[in-house]
Amino acid sequence: MAVTSPYALTAGTPSPFSERGPGGEATRPRRLRQLGSTIGLVVLVATSLPAQTVQLTVQPAPVAGPVISKHIYGHFAEHLGRCVYDGFWVDPALNVPKQGRIRMDIVEALRKIKVANLRWPGGCFADAYHWRDGVGPAAQRPRTINTWWGNAVEDNSFGTHEFLELCQLLGAEPYLAANVGSGTVQEMANWMEYLNSNADTPLTQQRRQNGHPAPYGVTMWGIGNESWGCGGNMTPDYYADVYKRYATFAHNYPGSPPLKRIVSGANGDDPNWTETCMKKIPLNMMWGLTLHQYTLPTGSWSGSKGPATGFGEAEYFNTMRNCLRMEPIVAKHAAIMDKYDPKKQVALLVDEWGVWTDVEPGTNPGFLYQQNSLRDALVAGTTLNIFNNHCDRVRGANLAQAVNVLQALILTDKERMLLTPTYHVFDLYQVHQDAQWLPLQFSSPEYAMGSEKIPALNASASRDKAGAVHISLVNLNPNQPLTLETTLPGVKWNAVTGRILTSAKVSDYNTFDRPDNVKLASFRGAKKRGEQLVVTLPPKSVVVLELTSTSKTSS
Ligand code: AHR
Repeated sequence: MAVTSPYALTAGTPSPFSERGPGGEATRPRRLRQLGSTIGLVVLVATSLPAQTVQLTVQPAPVAGPVISKHIYGHFAEHLGRCVYDGFWVDPALNVPKQGRIRMDIVEALRKIKVANLRWPGGCFADAYHWRDGVGPAAQRPRTINTWWGNAVEDNSFGTHEFLELCQLLGAEPYLAANVGSGTVQEMANWMEYLNSNADTPLTQQRRQNGHPAPYGVTMWGIGNESWGCGGNMTPDYYADVYKRYATFAHNYPGSPPLKRIVSGANGDDPNWTETCMKKIPLNMMWGLTLHQYTLPTGSWSGSKGPATGFGEAEYFNTMRNCLRMEPIVAKHAAIMDKYDPKKQVALLVDEWGVWTDVEPGTNPGFLYQQNSLRDALVAGTTLNIFNNHCDRVRGANLAQAVNVLQALILTDKERMLLTPTYHVFDLYQVHQDAQWLPLQFSSPEYAMGSEKIPALNASASRDKAGAVHISLVNLNPNQPLTLETTLPGVKWNAVTGRILTSAKVSDYNTFDRPDNVKLASFRGAKKRGEQLVVTLPPKSVVVLELTSTSKTSS
C-alpha cells in the first residue's frame, strides 16, 4: 500500500533542481523551466508523488561470511592543489589550532569519522616523488616543481615524518605509494629500510637523527600508481614484470609487521589490465590489487565534466547513472580475480574513487578544487553500499581526496573550514567498519529520466560486535519517497534509531557563510510494526538505521 510520506514536498517547496546553491536565488529547474507557464502545475505534480513500496529482507549472516573491512573507509591526500599545503599543513602564521604545522581542526573532524587509512603522496605525484627530498632539516630540503599539478613549487616541508605524524594524530594506517615511474628499485627499497628496519645502518641512523628512534612499521605499500597512465604509460605485460622486480626488493624487516604489497591496477572498465596482472604475478607476491574509477557528471574526460553546483535534473540523473557503473565494474574485476584466486586471498582496493567535476570558476585548473553538494553525498552513500556488498573481495578504498581536492570531505578558506555533505555520509557509515556483512534482498523501484532508468534504492547492512544491526539506505529519486516493509529473520530487535542526510535540493551545498546548510538530522521515519521494520525514506536522502535489542540475540 502506498503511504504518504511525511517528507513529501509541497507546491511551495523549492524544486530539488535549483540552478543555484544554498543562497536560494534562482530555483527553477532547467528541465521544468522550458515548460514556461505550466511550471507551477508541473512542480505540484512532480513533488506530490505517493511513496512506492519496497519489500526488503535483511538476511542472516552467511556462515563464515565476510566482514566489511574498515579499510573501505580510507582516504587520500596527494600533493595536489590545497590538499596538503594550505589543507592539512598550514602556514605557521595561520590562526587555527595546530600541532607544528598540522591543522588540528581538520584532524579533530576526521578523527570523528574514523579514517581507516590515508594514502600518500599520490596519485600521479607519487611517481615523481623522491622521498629523500622530504626528510631531514626543513631548511635544507630542496625546492622542486610539482609538474603534475599546476607546476606548483614544492618546498618539501611536508615529507615522510610529517605524514606519519599526521596519520598517528588521525589514528589512521599509513598507505604509501612508492615511485615506480621515475624512481628506482633501490630508492624504494631504501625508503622501506629507513622506515621499517631496526638494524643499525646508515639509513636507520638517519631516521633516528630525524627524530624517530623506533621503526615505523609501515605495511601498506602501493607499487606505483596508474602505471597505465601518469605512472609511466606502461602496457600491463610490461608493468607486471616491473611489479615483480620491485616487489622482490620490498623486504620485510624483523620486528616490523609483514608488508602488504599492492599492485597498481586498472583504469575503470579495463579487464585486460586485471587479467594480465592476475595471470603474471604470483599470488604470494601481492596482498592487493587496485582499481581507479571516478564518477564524471557528463561521463566524458574531454570537454566539460559538468559543474559541481547549479546543475539540473538531467545532469543529476546522469551523475547517478555514471556512479552506479561502479557495481558492474567491481563485479567484473572481482570475477577475473576469482579465476586466478578462487580463495579470495588478494584484496581489491578501489584506491581512487569519487565525483570529478569542473573546477570552481576562478580557481587554478591544476588544483582540482570543487564544491560538494547533496548529489555528491548520494554518490558516496551509493558507492559505499556497493563496496560493502562486495566486501568479500573489496577490502580497501580511498575517496579522492580528503581536503580541498575533488570530492573532498573538508573545504578550507584561510582560517575557515566546512564539512561537506560527503563528510556526513562517512560519519553515518562508520558503523559498518569491521562489522559482519548482512545480505539484503529487494527489488528496487526505478527512477526514470526520459527513456532511461536507474534503481532508486540502494542499501547495505551489517551487524557490529555489540550485536547492533545497521542498515544504510539511499533513495536516489529526488521526487518520490519510498516505503520499505522490512523483514529481518534472525534479528531480535525492539528499538530503532536513525540519522538522515537530505536537503531541499540535490544541488544544495555548504558554504563558509552557511556551513550547516546540508547537515545530519535525527530520523523519525522508521518504526516497528509487528515483526516488521517500516521505513519511509524521503526523496534524495541517505539514512542509516540502528536496530538494537535489550536482549541481544541475532542471526
Ligand atoms: O586524484 C587525482 C588524480 O587522479 C591522481 O593523481 C591520479 O592517480 C588520478 O588520475
